[in-house]
This record gives sequence, C-alpha cells and structure tokens, in this order.
Amino acid sequence: MPTENANVPSYETDFAGLEPDEVEGLDSFDHVGAYRKLGPIYSVMFRGEKWICMGGVEANEVAWRNPDMWDYRSALSPFRDVMGEKHVTQMDGKAHRQKRRQLKPGFAMSAIARWIPKIDSIVKESLSAEVGSSSSLADFFMSTLTKANAQTVLQTRLSDEAIKVFIRFEETFIGATVRAEEQRNAFYASEGFLADKRFVFKLLGDLVKQRVAALPKRTDDNFSEVLAMTLEDCGGEMDLQELVSEAYLLLMAGTGNTAKLLNCGLQHILADEFWLSELRNELEGYGPGSFARGMDGFPKLKATVFEIERMFPAAPVLARVVAKPFEFLGHHLEKGDKVLHLQTLPHFLDEVYEEPYRFKPMRWIENKYSKKSQGTFGGSTHICLGMNLARIHMPIVLANVLSGYELEQNSKSEIKVNLNYGVPQVSDISGRFLKRA
Ligand code: HEM
Repeated sequence: MPTENANVPSYETDFAGLEPDEVEGLDSFDHVGAYRKLGPIYSVMFRGEKWICMGGVEANEVAWRNPDMWDYRSALSPFRDVMGEKHVTQMDGKAHRQKRRQLKPGFAMSAIARWIPKIDSIVKESLSAEVGSSSSLADFFMSTLTKANAQTVLQTRLSDEAIKVFIRFEETFIGATVRAEEQRNAFYASEGFLADKRFVFKLLGDLVKQRVAALPKRTDDNFSEVLAMTLEDCGGEMDLQELVSEAYLLLMAGTGNTAKLLNCGLQHILADEFWLSELRNELEGYGPGSFARGMDGFPKLKATVFEIERMFPAAPVLARVVAKPFEFLGHHLEKGDKVLHLQTLPHFLDEVYEEPYRFKPMRWIENKYSKKSQGTFGGSTHICLGMNLARIHMPIVLANVLSGYELEQNSKSEIKVNLNYGVPQVSDISGRFLKRA
C-alpha cells in the first residue's frame, strides 16, 4: 500500500494555496515554482491520486543510481497492453537487461551512422517534393523520418498511406499512455484504434515471417541484427509479437518526439537572425557524408541540437512506481508509491543553465554541463534507446532545411516551455518551404 507521506509538503496547500478539494489540471503544474518554494520533494494530486514529485539534480542522481528501485512493469503498463509482454519499455531487472542487450546492435551508433547518406537523400527528396505546399511541420518531419527509417534500419518500403496509418497509431497510442486507466482502456478498445493496430501488426508480422523464413540468408539492416540476437536467446520458441515489437521500435518509436523537437527548435532558430546566419555559414561545406564521423566539424549545429533538447524535452516528466523502499532527503518512499520524476527540471533552473528560458545554443560551446542535469532522454538502464537515431536525424534535417530553404510561416505560433507529465512542447507550425536563392 502506498504510504501517506505525511511529512511531504503538498503542492496544492503549501504552494498553490488551493482549497483541499481543488486540484490543478494535468498540464498546469508550476513545478519550477514549487521546487523553489517546497524543495526537491512534494506531493501533487492528479487523476484523483496522490503522487510524489521528485525534482532537481539531486533527484536525478538518486533516481538513476539504482534502476531496480523502480517498478517499470506497473508504471508503464500501457506499453504492455498494446505492444505485448516483451516490449522493452515496461520490463524490469534481468529480463529488461537481456532485452536491451538484444536490441543494442540495432541502435548502436555505428549501426545507424552507416545510413547517414541514405537518410540525407530521403530528407532532401522529401523537402524538394514539399516545396511550395502548405503543411504542418511536425507531420512533415514525422512522415519523412518514418520513411527514412523504413528504407534504412528496416529495409522496407511503405506507401504514403501506410505511413499515415503508422503515424496515427503511434501518436494515439503514446498520447493515450498518460490518460487515466479507464479512459485509456476504452480508447485502446475503440474500433478506430484497433483497426490501425491490426494494420500495423499485420504489416510488421508479415515482414518478420519473411525474414525468419529466409534464414540463414540475412537482409543487411539493423533489424536483422536484433532478430539474430533475439532468436539466439529464445531457444527455438519464437514469439512473433516480440519480434513485431522490435521491428516497431526501429521503425517508429520516438519519431514523434524527434519531429516535435525539430518543430519547436526550428521556430527558435528562424526567429534569431544572427544565429541563423552563423549556422548557414557553418553549413556551407555540408554534404551527405559530413556527419559520418560525428559532428566535430559543425560545433554550432551540435550546440543547437543540445539546446533544442534542453528547452523542448518531449517527455519532460516520467511516471514511476516504487519497487524497493528508499529515502530521499529524509523522506521515506514506500513500495507502491507513485512518483513523478521531474527529470528535466534542472533544464529550467538558472543556477544550472543561466537564463534558462532563453534559446542560447552558445552555452553548449562555452560550458560543460553534468549529465545529471540533462534529462531529455531519461537516464540509467531505461535511457532512451533511440537517442543515437534522434541525434543523427535532427542534424540532418536541420542541415538540409537551413542550408537549402526559407520557411514562410502561415502564422507565428507561440511555443511555451512546458514542464508537465504527458505534455510535450507542441506548437504546430504550419508553413511553406521555399528554395533559397
Ligand atoms: C528527441 C527524440 C526523443 C526523445 C526526447 C525521447 C525520450 C525518451 C525518454 C525520456 C525515455 C525514457 C523513458 C523512461 O525512462 O520511462 C525514452 C525511452 C525510450 N525511447 Fe526515446 N526519445 C526520443 C527518440 C526516440 C527514438 C527515435 C526511438 C526509437 C527509434 C526511441 C525509443 C525509445 C525506447 C525504446 C525507449 C525505452 C527504453 C527502455 O525502457 O529501456 N526514442 N525516450
């Protein structure tokens, strides 16, 4: 049973001055303000339950020191409900470590970097097909990156129609993970969602079956590496859904996050004429193979990507359930306690990042920041598996957009920095790409 945590200050009464039956909406907590007033641990009421918030560099240290203190199976059950028992996100302990080992060869930097020229050519092709038409940037980035993943790490071709279904499935699946259980289950059982799910699983299921039937002949892609590792461990008991979930990870997982970061970041870059021209100067020598050995030749672009990650974390807060009791700054957390780990809160503390609400890529060239104050990709054993992919996709897209295009925005949309559970920074920019003279 969760403890009452009686000695933990309350967001509602001790910070916001609300009446006992008044609660904040999911997206309106002022966590930076509460951290300043109440310290790194306090409670909030949401979805009718009490959650313990842990924030700041000290919270990241504790939360990432011992991953076995968290029960991912309980906290991330929606991933199991949709993707199955062997989906990495909701696994714990030894089984999770084995799954990460199986997935690692598919997501390693060297396995991804070999596709850089191909990704670059797909991004170029998509941009040039998009010239002049008015579109939502987040949708455009997400479909371009999904197409790129299909043709590289999964060596398959998806029609534009299929890509639309995959994106709709991913966005609604992930969007619903943060809803209250009853609402979420109803959504996952709805006919529209089930139809998309059948489509996605059938297409990937067929791909997996073809790959397995063709063995020992292997396709030269990342999925083959993962497939080999998983089959080696399964001792002849192949689990089709497990392999479908792995193919899905390579194709889709996190692509919406990358698209959202690009969307928000691009808006800030374009609003800063000085930085835009610095980047364009740096990118004068850019070509398809430029990032093959890393980004050292492009320090300003690299700093820009880090600053986008800092300001617009797509998953700014993570939900956790305590598996093993522990102490945090004198407070006892008991097995079963629900925790919101505010892992990106340090991004908005001025003692860590000076003027935290200003988009200042140069800070990454002038300073070194501790890993404990960077939470965009999470940390410890469950750290984002797709970080390498995102860090290759973002610079390639930015390099192509900034060096080759102007963006005529339909309207100036305001992107507000947001630090709430399940609320990524979104502001859907729509506009037209025009070829630069
Ligand atoms: C900028 C883009 C991205 C951001 C901000 C992001 C963020 C995150 C975060 C915060 C976590 C930790 C979740 C937790 O601890 O509960 C995570 C985990 C994960 N991410 Fe990403 N992600 C991004 C892109 C991607 C991409 C492109 C992929 C795959 C292609 C991906 C696949 C995953 C997977 C599989 C996990 C779960 C790992 C595990 O539980 O062991 N992500 N991501």
